[in-house]
Amino acid sequence: MTMPLSRRHFLQAAGAGAAVWVPTPARGYSGAEMAAFAAQAGSELSALGVSMWDLDTPSLVVDLDALDANLATMQRTMERNGIASRPHAKTHKTPAIARRQLETGSVGICVAKVSEAEALFEHGIDRLLMTTSNVTPFKIRRAMHLRKWCPAFVQATDTAENARDLSAAAEAAGVMADVVVDVDPGGHRTGITPGEPALALAQLVDRLPGLRLRGMLCYDGGSQHVTGFEARQAQTLERLAAAADTCERLRRSGLNTEIFSGGGTGTYNIDHQTPGFTDVQVGSYVFMDAQYLGIGGADDPEVYSDFRPALTILTTVLNAQYEGRATTDAGAKACTINRPWSIVKGERGMSYTSGSDEFGSIRYGDDASRTYAVGDKLELIVSHCDPVVNLYDRMYAVRNGLVEAVWEIAARGRSA
Ligand SMILES: Cc1ncc(COP(=O)(O)O)c(C=O)c1O
Repeated sequence: MTMPLSRRHFLQAAGAGAAVWVPTPARGYSGAEMAAFAAQAGSELSALGVSMWDLDTPSLVVDLDALDANLATMQRTMERNGIASRPHAKTHKTPAIARRQLETGSVGICVAKVSEAEALFEHGIDRLLMTTSNVTPFKIRRAMHLRKWCPAFVQATDTAENARDLSAAAEAAGVMADVVVDVDPGGHRTGITPGEPALALAQLVDRLPGLRLRGMLCYDGGSQHVTGFEARQAQTLERLAAAADTCERLRRSGLNTEIFSGGGTGTYNIDHQTPGFTDVQVGSYVFMDAQYLGIGGADDPEVYSDFRPALTILTTVLNAQYEGRATTDAGAKACTINRPWSIVKGERGMSYTSGSDEFGSIRYGDDASRTYAVGDKLELIVSHCDPVVNLYDRMYAVRNGLVEAVWEIAARGRSA
């Protein structure tokens, strides 16, 4: 296949009006240039041969082989265990990834905020389950407006008052809104108490004229990062037992239990043991991060190696003149200050901190696998993927080191 456009062509065309030309030896592509390349080249972008190491930094990079392996592991596990995945877009906020998840077998996509749902829907993702209740009249109206255009939108609720408000708004919007009852696993963050209170709410939802009951959800966030597979399994099965009993009571009462959603990356291979459970709302599995790597898995007690770290921050060394340390351009605004800190990918004997707003710091131990010079670039495995993604406008999808696509993080900053 012949490439219709050269790299120079792209650079000249970038930036609508103002022709930009960067001499080849400069080798550094800004986000705006890469977005322009991608808009013109589409699926032929990789033929341009832009190396990830030529990207301006800090940049967010996703390794496609690792990402696809993570999707395949999830799908294989779901098929084996007889449940489904309904991945949470709060992690990636990226329509291209949601599309990949649906194409590889996920039954829908979860969202945390109504603005996140709107952004995904604008980009063609239409099987959406909003796991957070909307409680203000403004947000309820917005959600019901979205429902009008997006028939597969499902909304969580956890109080009778909220269910009545939703029903009234649905009627005003001329729709029948699909609703799941959010049940508390014991963390008291969101959700109604399991058992009688949850059953009564489900019965109310079933009766209200503007609502259609689709089932329930119970997300046990407190169990996801429990260290050690056996401990994690014991805790989540114990905490979900009351939700399972609630699901059974709904079923015996003749209510719809087609959805019993919950779980996450830490319990994706445990949740099928909870009776009635239908799908896992996994988020982080698609990228992995330092927080999850440390919890250990069923096969590997030290490292949670079920999924491959796919998301990295590319950073450049700015200062290397002091013994035992180097300074980079990826600080808190590029990495967050979540703990554990980011990990320098592929190296040993060094630690990374991102406590300064604009600067990251590498400290070398005696056994460091290498040292860095000014201008060197390196990759960081992210600390906690969700808030890192929210710092960037786009991520670069890379295979074998070459940029294959530029993905807009369309729901970035959509926190309302
Ligand atoms: C309601 C809900 N579901 C699912 C997830 C996904 O969890 P994880 O990233 O651990 O897979 C989260 C994450 O916080 C969540 O809040």
